[in-house]
Amino acid sequence: MAKAGSTEANHLPRPAQHVAIIMDGNGRWATQRGWPRLVGHRRGAERVREIVRACPNLGIRYLTVYAFSTENWKRSTEEVLGLMAIFARYIDREADRLLAEGVRLRFIGDRSRLDPKLQKMMAGIEERTAKGTRLDFTVAINYGGRDELTRAIRDMAREVAEGRLKPEAISEAAVTAHLDTADLPDPDLVIRTSGETRTSNFLPWQTAYAEYEFTPTLWPDFTAHELGQIVARFGNRERRFGGVVHG
Ligand code: IPE
Ligand code: IPE
Ligand code: MG
Repeated sequence: MAKAGSTEANHLPRPAQHVAIIMDGNGRWATQRGWPRLVGHRRGAERVREIVRACPNLGIRYLTVYAFSTENWKRSTEEVLGLMAIFARYIDREADRLLAEGVRLRFIGDRSRLDPKLQKMMAGIEERTAKGTRLDFTVAINYGGRDELTRAIRDMAREVAEGRLKPEAISEAAVTAHLDTADLPDPDLVIRTSGETRTSNFLPWQTAYAEYEFTPTLWPDFTAHELGQIVARFGNRERRFGGVVHG
């Protein structure tokens, strides 16, 4: 909690500690070229590699990306299975690189609906990279903010029913602790690519005070250079958190 009246720090440019990205526009990127949507998703996965590598140099300590929402099951079976295959291949191919770069990879979202083989790979790479300290990289798969809150409420209700949690003890901190992101600080900055200006059920609780940046760039065209520009702009924004900035 910030000290009352200590607002000067808000004037100083400082890096975004936690950047969250809604990686959107893969489908349009491919369609514009007359290619199947999955080609765009593959290209999108390659961008992730570059962005992950760039983060530590930009002062970013936490990176969270939205890869598959609870609503994305509405897409064709071909696209859904293709995306799942891309996730599996990413884990398989990137494990050594992430380990070498000191990246800790974790997942948020409801994994129970995913292929057990993929779930096993996810748990495996989380365990293998658990000691990474340069970047906490979190991938949201089958993630939906409402679903996450619903699961958290269900867990808390169960604890109350079993006498392990008192209703009076349900504070904001207690809710935060029951979310998939319990171990992560709130994002400072959310970036959405592809020109859409909505949040699509991404981290609603955690982004209550986040800054948003929307760029028309389609995700497969998003570069570390553009990330650097956005992060630099963020450093000059004045964040008030409901207070008053004097001067
Ligand atoms: C984002 O790209 C990736 C996922 C949602 C899985 P889209 O697939 O949503 O691309 P557009 O929005 O159709 O261009
Ligand atoms: C949001 O993109 C989800 C991900 C980037 C994974 P969508 O393309 O699914 O969102 P809508 O449908 O445009 O809101
Ligand atoms: Mg989209």
